[in-house]
Amino acid sequence: MTIEKKNLNPKRTASRLSQIRPSGLRKLFDLEHKLSKSSSHKILSFGLGNLNIPTMPEIISQLKIALDDPVSHRYSPNAGLLELREALVARYKTEYHLDYTTDQIVITSGCLEALIDAFIALIDPGDEVLIQDPTFGYYASQISLAGGKVRPVPLNDKFELEADLVNEAITSKTKALVLNFPCNPTGSVMSREEIRAVVETAADKGIIIISDEAYEAITFNGHKHTCAAEIDYDNVIIISSFSKTYCMTGFRVGYVLAPPELLSPISLVHQYNTACANSPAQIAAKIALHSPSSIREVMMKKLIERRAETIKAFTSVEGIKLNYNPLGAFYIYPDIGGLGMNGTEFSEFLLENCQIVVVPGTEFGTTTPNHVRISYGFLNQKDIREAGTRIHSCFSKTH
Ligand SMILES: Cc1ncc(COP(=O)(O)O)c(C=O)c1O
Repeated sequence: MTIEKKNLNPKRTASRLSQIRPSGLRKLFDLEHKLSKSSSHKILSFGLGNLNIPTMPEIISQLKIALDDPVSHRYSPNAGLLELREALVARYKTEYHLDYTTDQIVITSGCLEALIDAFIALIDPGDEVLIQDPTFGYYASQISLAGGKVRPVPLNDKFELEADLVNEAITSKTKALVLNFPCNPTGSVMSREEIRAVVETAADKGIIIISDEAYEAITFNGHKHTCAAEIDYDNVIIISSFSKTYCMTGFRVGYVLAPPELLSPISLVHQYNTACANSPAQIAAKIALHSPSSIREVMMKKLIERRAETIKAFTSVEGIKLNYNPLGAFYIYPDIGGLGMNGTEFSEFLLENCQIVVVPGTEFGTTTPNHVRISYGFLNQKDIREAGTRIHSCFSKTH
């Protein structure tokens, strides 16, 4: 039986949804999909933060063998496969010299599950949570769903978070600060000293740090990521995943690393949320961690080439400025105000006239309406070059 629309009484919707609007990125994705069916030109999408680079074949071939083992057909322990947690302990020791134990880790269905578990577990109604502005749009909605109040802290003009501004935003109700470097949407990174200053500011006031490090392994020109847990402070929760590091966005495997008193409530929410992450996907994640680091070279080589091509395609137009060095993730976030348009107008203009998709800055906060996010995760170098040609011919015609 199909339920008719008129039977869906909006009063039955929980009031906690009143602060939530559907993600504009998803709408854009749907629009792009629709246009790709009707347009005579190929739609070139710098829209979603997805990767079109296949998961490394070494991981897939070993996973196929592992799937014959019935262990992969069952629920895993709530906290995740022990061997996967052991492999993560080893990785954080080698990479960051951190001494986690397997009982300080919970495997989740991507960063997104880890984040909402953490917000539900730690935030009471009325608690304030500081987030960067601009930042990944999901945080605000997830915090609202958990009953918290979002307080944005503007990034500086290089899209770094300044400790002084964090300090100014702290009130007696501040419970947590969400950090995200390398940053979505800007691709900006922070030095160890800058991260230290922010963590120490939070530590002074006993504020919990929730550091979303989804892009920790994607950095350029020799930049070395600092994990927030490297700075000595007990109340630091690290959230990350296999999505971007190993081109495994569809596998949905992420994790939380935290001291026991913070991990225990998060783990309880996780238990009632999903029970455990998908077992075959956890096996794939374990294979990824046991593979030589060289398997990531193909992906990084492609991202390095695409980054250079994307910067060239957009910044050679007069009026588009990139005033900082995007040394992480796979985004650039130029200011297009010099074209006499705001980010929304520019996005609409590009879609209509060049069949190119970019995301307006209003999707990431309120402080950067003249910026657009350009993701180079999903287009190959040839298509990025073609995008550059289209942009040039459009702007030489109209300006
Ligand atoms: C900053 C950030 N955090 C988390 C996610 C989601 O990651 P996952 O696929 O691990 O859920 C994304 C996805 O684009 C992201 O940009």
